[in-house]
Amino acid sequence: MTLRNRFLILHGPNLNLLGTREPGIYGSLTIHDIDEHIRGLSVELEVDVECHQSNHEGALIDLMHGAIGHVDGCIINAGAYTHTSIALHDCIKAVPYPTIEVHLSNIHAREPFRHVSRLGPAVRASIAGFGWRSYTAALRALVEQLREADA
Ligand code: DQA
Repeated sequence: MTLRNRFLILHGPNLNLLGTREPGIYGSLTIHDIDEHIRGLSVELEVDVECHQSNHEGALIDLMHGAIGHVDGCIINAGAYTHTSIALHDCIKAVPYPTIEVHLSNIHAREPFRHVSRLGPAVRASIAGFGWRSYTAALRALVEQLREADA
């Protein structure tokens, strides 16, 4: 049986400013606080997580390519690249592991330009609107689904 235990967590552009960036929309936690919540869950689930943030589209793609053969899945909040990036869409389809798209806010309840996700058709699933819990909900669901499929 394969142990599904390594996951890449990616935060995209402007998420390094969480805590002070539009807290009414994104909450008051910093990116480090969110990573701590993810790490706390990783202990419970007995998985390893590697968390990165980048403001650069190509850097996010490089991280996903570099994780090939090293991770069992990826959780990405691509920030505004969600709505624009065909390159990230193609990357998600190109890598062999499943990717989950997450958003702190409910993008469907916001400005019309946020209603379209370029990543949506490429990802295994999407979770939006639970604040930092979007990340932990995604990690838990992905780990459970992979382990169930392996059982
Ligand atoms: C976001 C939603 C995006 O529309 C926005 O550009 C972000 C954050 C979210 O987590 O709610 O940067 O991905």
